[in-house]
Amino acid sequence: MRARVFSGVQPSGQLHIGNYLGALKSWAEIQADYESIFCIVDSHAITVYQDPAELQAKIRETAALFIAAGIDPAQSSIMVQSSVSGHAELAWMLTCVTPLGWLQRMTQFKAKAEKQETIGDGLLQYPVLMAADILLYQAAIVPVGEDQAQHLELARDIAQRFNSLYGETFVMPATHLPTVGARVMGLDDPTQKMSKSATGTGHAIALLDDPKVIQKKIMRATTDSLPAVDAENMGAGVANLLAIGQACDASITRESVAGMRYGDFKKRIAEAVVARLQPIQQRYREVTADSSYVDSVLAAGRDHILPFAEDTIRKTKAAMGLYVW
Ligand code: TRP
Repeated sequence: MRARVFSGVQPSGQLHIGNYLGALKSWAEIQADYESIFCIVDSHAITVYQDPAELQAKIRETAALFIAAGIDPAQSSIMVQSSVSGHAELAWMLTCVTPLGWLQRMTQFKAKAEKQETIGDGLLQYPVLMAADILLYQAAIVPVGEDQAQHLELARDIAQRFNSLYGETFVMPATHLPTVGARVMGLDDPTQKMSKSATGTGHAIALLDDPKVIQKKIMRATTDSLPAVDAENMGAGVANLLAIGQACDASITRESVAGMRYGDFKKRIAEAVVARLQPIQQRYREVTADSSYVDSVLAAGRDHILPFAEDTIRKTKAAMGLYVW
């Protein structure tokens, strides 16, 4: 049996170049070596209110962008979390073995809870559902960014606790975070990871941004007060632009941009980004031209992985003594 890879993206906000360079691109590179499952985690998205019509559109857009970014439906299963009821079922069983204190300690929960007037229970349960996503498919490898490391660790703790209470049931997902691509920071604030939900228009480069918009955003990106690139002493904003440029075009190096005036430097980076995104945007248009294609990919993805999920649900129920027929 091939080792399984599982990862997920929320269908909220706009997928951006950070998602591509930090995740999708590397998923496409490893997909052939594993039983690869890439999930659109809509049930996670509703932990904060989503406009229903918009959410449904975003689910399909996200799936189309997965394909456009090189996730090949012939090699990977692209599926929607809520289309497989096992995610929710397993999440409940795992909830029952998860100490409340573990969840209250999660830094992402604390950060999100701070911003809400009433804290939905789903926000607290978020990492249990994420553990269920991973354990449902007995995934050994979970490529996620550093910001999800604590959630991944929690998934291991939950699996371990379940296994010790009820017997070996779950494959332990690997602790090491496989090197994922570049960590892309916000254009307007290079101390913050580029985020799908940041509302600032100059913050992120969306994968579907028009070339002119991309150019404008990069020209306005935060640098520092120097006039030109100092290769020995780069501010965070300049280093971030360079990292983006390098990831898009290997001919861009620290040496090649040393001494460039910021205007020219940014123009060069923008060119590289536009050229890198052009085929993705083209493929996106092709993929979405036939309105039923994406749905057929999602149905095939679901059909392929459903037996894995059913197997785990049966095992878990049996282990806990729930009714199995
Ligand atoms: N929480 C992840 C994020 O925001 C998304 C996610 C949900 C996920 N379930 C997952 C990632 C399972 C990896 C595995 O990035």
